[in-house]
Order: sequence, then structure tokens, then C-alpha cells
Amino acid sequence: MQNVILIGFMACGKSTLGKKLANKLNFEFIDTDKEIEKNENCSVTEIFEKFGENHFRELEKKLLVSLQDKQNCIISTGGGLPCFNENMTLLNQIGTTFYIKLNPIELTKRILNAKTIRPLAKDKTQDELYTFVKELLSKREEFYSKSKFTLSGKEQNVKFIESILF
Ligand code: S3P
Repeated sequence: MQNVILIGFMACGKSTLGKKLANKLNFEFIDTDKEIEKNENCSVTEIFEKFGENHFRELEKKLLVSLQDKQNCIISTGGGLPCFNENMTLLNQIGTTFYIKLNPIELTKRILNAKTIRPLAKDKTQDELYTFVKELLSKREEFYSKSKFTLSGKEQNVKFIESILF
């Protein structure tokens, strides 16, 4: 079967849902941030600090190209990946894309409560973070909305995705 690709803003739950889906379908699970960290032997935060965001975006593109021949994988993408270097076109060729859509209030709460450090969102007060999320999300919607399916809150579960796939 073709791959399943989960897309959405940082902290929307792509990896959690992706792992559950991979378990259920017995598919390989690939998290693009984790793959880049493994390949570079360096955390995403360190890559941003040492080499800058543009370099990270190049690594994302390189990884995506290397995933083209994969099959039966659940791929969870970094929040910015679909929005650079025409990646959305390639994502739609590699698999069935699902946009996990959450609103800026929910996303802000989840980013604040998360253990993962997100270089673009760190060192911000709650108000600053909300404004940042709202503005960046409104720019990124254009790319996310090119996904084949958009999942709203109640649809963001394994059962619903399975019902679409099979
Ligand atoms: C980013 C999201 C992060 C990670 C990097 C940049 C973004 O992934 O790729 O910090 O630009 O939105 P998550 O979506 O898993 O947080």
C-alpha cells in the first residue's frame, strides 16, 4: 500500500497519532525530525543554532527525496516541511496526505505543555506564542490545505483514518 503522511503545525499530534496508526496497520513509522537527527547525529535545536533554518530545510528536502521509493510507511512530517521547496507536491506523490487541523488556541496550549523544545517557538511568553502561532499558521494553511484529507478534532484518530484508507 501507498504511504500515509501526516501533516500539520508543530505539536498538533502527528507523531502520537502516527505511531498508533503504524502499530495498528503494522507499517514502519518514520518521523522526519527524528530521521534528520539520526542522519546528522545532532538535535533539531542544534541544527537550527549551528547552521540556521535554511540548512534544516535543505536537510528536510534531501530526506523527503530519499523517501520516494518507500511503501507501507506512516510518515510524520516536521511542521514546516510541507511549506518549503515545493515539498507539498512531492508529499502528495509519495503518499496519502492528511492534515491534522487544530486552532491556534489549542496549538499554543500544546506547545506550552510539550517536553520537546521547538527552536522557532522557544523563549516566548504565552501571549507572544499565541500571536506567533496564529500568524504562522495563517501563512502555512495555504500549504497544509493541499493535503488530500483534512482531519478536524473528532476525526483525528486511527479508526477514522482507517475508514478512509480501506
Ligand atoms: C518546525 C517544526 C518541528 C521541527 C522544527 C521546525 C516548524 O517539528 O521540524 O523545529 O517549522 O514548524 P514538529 O512539527 O514535530 O514540532
